[in-house]
Amino acid sequence: MANNLLAGKRGVIFGALDDQSIAWRVAEKCVEEGATITLTNAPVAFRFGKIQGLAEKLNAEAIPADATNLEDLENLFSKSQEILGGKLDFVLHSIGMSLNVRKKREYTNIKYDWMQKTFDISAISFHKVMQTLWQMDAMNDWGSILALTYIAAQRTFPDYNEMAESKALLESFARSFGYHFGTRNKVRVNTISQSPTMTTAGQGVKGFDVFFDYADKMSPLGNAPTDTCADYCVSLFSDYTRMVTMQNLYHDGGFSNIGMNPAVLNLEG
Ligand SMILES: NC(=O)c1ccc[n+]([C@@H]2O[C@H](COP(=O)([O-])OP(=O)(O)OC[C@H]3O[C@@H](n4cnc5c(N)ncnc54)[C@H](O)[C@@H]3O)[C@@H](O)[C@H]2O)c1
Repeated sequence: MANNLLAGKRGVIFGALDDQSIAWRVAEKCVEEGATITLTNAPVAFRFGKIQGLAEKLNAEAIPADATNLEDLENLFSKSQEILGGKLDFVLHSIGMSLNVRKKREYTNIKYDWMQKTFDISAISFHKVMQTLWQMDAMNDWGSILALTYIAAQRTFPDYNEMAESKALLESFARSFGYHFGTRNKVRVNTISQSPTMTTAGQGVKGFDVFFDYADKMSPLGNAPTDTCADYCVSLFSDYTRMVTMQNLYHDGGFSNIGMNPAVLNLEG
């Protein structure tokens, strides 16, 4: 049910690793809605992921870039403008990785150089993306920049570990850069706070399966799936959300505003 919402728009999508990735579905929907895009991911994801397959399917170019590396980002945005034929209308940051989670370090026994790397990959990369776009003047007026986040930025989910602080930092960068981009270019910057989702990054969190079911029961609409997250991203890249900026927008089936759902206590059928 494509509606040409992104006809004529040019975008860059970070973070499609495999067909479970949220960015994978966003890329597919953006193209269905009439956008032309380039795809990007860390060089290692080109070796182990399936991004080239998606690029072929969407007739899009895939350009390797480590999102923590400023030279890679400059190269990515200059090539993307060349390939797509002009400045960019939208950018999706769909990147997350925690070294302490991956290496199973408890929150009370953090290795700090890993924590810094985690912040760099999962949050500071968003600032680097925006600063590179800003300095290259690579965004069209009324463009839209989005990153994906999680409610552990506001509430404590113990097994989310240092990713909680990464997401708090990421959301803050959206607000702060949203001011600058809004004032200069009318470009909006937002974060989408997504339900737990069965992806490589999601399943890396301890106890994810049980937590996924808990969140699903707590949310009046159930967990928001990848597909509807992609729809929400498309709406935020479209001209229907031109005045929405500096927001953290929950896409979570109602989880963020519920106190207790009797379904979790087995009080209802
Ligand atoms: N899965 C969930 O439960 C969930 C919930 C809320 C928010 N999110 C967020 O959604 C986003 C996408 O994650 P996903 O769930 O689709 O998992 P995913 O594992 O498919 O995507 C994470 C991506 O980050 C990329 N990446 C890692 N290091 C990078 C680097 N240095 N440079 C460039 N790219 C790098 C990976 O290659 C991968 O493509 C993340 O920000 C994640 O935190 C996920």
